[in-house]
Amino acid sequence: MVKKKNVLTIFGTRPEAIKMAPLVLALRKDPRINCRVAVTAQHREMLDQVLELFGIVPDYDLDIMRAGQTLHDITSRALLGLRDVLWKDKPDIVLVHGDTTTTFVGALAAYYQQIEVGHVEAGLRSGDKYSPYPEEMNRRLTGMLGDLHFSPTMSSRENLLREGREEEKIFVTGNTVIDALLKAVQADYIFQEEALNRLDFDRKRIIVVTTHRRENLGEAMRQMYLAMKDIVREFPDVQLVFPVHKNPAVRKVASEVLGDSERVSLVEPLDYEPFANLMSKSYLILTDSGGLQEEAPALGKPVLVLRENTERPEAVEAGTVKLVGTKREDVYRATHELLRDESKYLAMAQAVNPYGDGHASERIVQALYHHWGWREDKPLPFIP
Ligand code: UD1
Ligand code: UDP
Repeated sequence: MVKKKNVLTIFGTRPEAIKMAPLVLALRKDPRINCRVAVTAQHREMLDQVLELFGIVPDYDLDIMRAGQTLHDITSRALLGLRDVLWKDKPDIVLVHGDTTTTFVGALAAYYQQIEVGHVEAGLRSGDKYSPYPEEMNRRLTGMLGDLHFSPTMSSRENLLREGREEEKIFVTGNTVIDALLKAVQADYIFQEEALNRLDFDRKRIIVVTTHRRENLGEAMRQMYLAMKDIVREFPDVQLVFPVHKNPAVRKVASEVLGDSERVSLVEPLDYEPFANLMSKSYLILTDSGGLQEEAPALGKPVLVLRENTERPEAVEAGTVKLVGTKREDVYRATHELLRDESKYLAMAQAVNPYGDGHASERIVQALYHHWGWREDKPLPFIP
């Protein structure tokens, strides 16, 4: 009988939870693995929404979130909390996800205790250390600390090879977000939320909006919201649905600029299932989020990205995602063009799957098997 391996997954925010949940469930199904979950709870309500949906009860919950938390606050509270968790749990390997401060600190805490680190969604790079901020640096630092790298795509693998990571330690798995998305979206989905049930998807063009990037807080966000206000005023068949991030800095500007606008629904952050189905029924998506750039192409929804650059070039190359920046005029012009010109819209509204096929979590489990000598060959890479 092979000795079981102990895996500790560490995450703290909504997107990490959505993307780690399918992996936690796959690890928990495996009879040769003990999988435990530590959350920093860098997010609280938005994290709990995901934990509940996937039925995950954390083994450790550091509950670190505070209003107005600085990067220093998150870093120091998570690092000290995780030190104690790792002392107690003594896992064989720690798995972290993506690019948040929890991700970097999870990897750092494990490194300090000489515990192996596996990085899920490894190797994405924008090339600009201040954009996305601080995510680009969190990814690079986690890549340095990591022992195993689970890259979603071939191009993220190339980034890691260029930085000198060992080829044997990189596995191209696809992105676990597609595992989650394919389970969440249903053709005959009925919303439980009153505000979503009232939407007329047949006669209105629904634009889904999300924004939260730290580098966009303040004036950049105001500018993009003003552009959205202009668009809604001009197109009577357009309705904006904007689940507003819990960050008070986002909420303040969103309600100041868009609060009284007709055909703009500012709603609370939605549970993942209704949100995924809302995207799937929508016409167009405006966002500065990372995850939406991966999910929307799989649903055939055009995305205008409210940022100057992206670490997710695949869907831009495939033509379903376009970078438009944050200036009022640029956001207005790009949105206007897609609403007016059907051929341009249809050219973007192609379902493409550069990010995954729904089997990323299985490949990660098999990569761990390979790492532990439980299988000889590496799992086959994800190729779109
Ligand atoms: C964080 C991550 C970012 C990720 C994003 C996903 C860092 C530094 N930032 O950014 O990489 O893309 O999450 O959404 O790791 N808040 C609540 N309830 C919640 C969540 C947040 O009230 O459930 C409020 C709190 O006041 C908190 C603030 O939002 O202080 C900001 O949260 P924080 O995690 O610091 O930054 P995000 O912008 O959410
Ligand atoms: N999401 C959600 N409810 C919402 C808005 C977004 O469940 O109201 C999901 C979305 O589908 C995606 C993830 O949250 O999987 C994106 O999170 P966020 O934009 O906070 O972070 P990022 O992806 O930019 O790191």
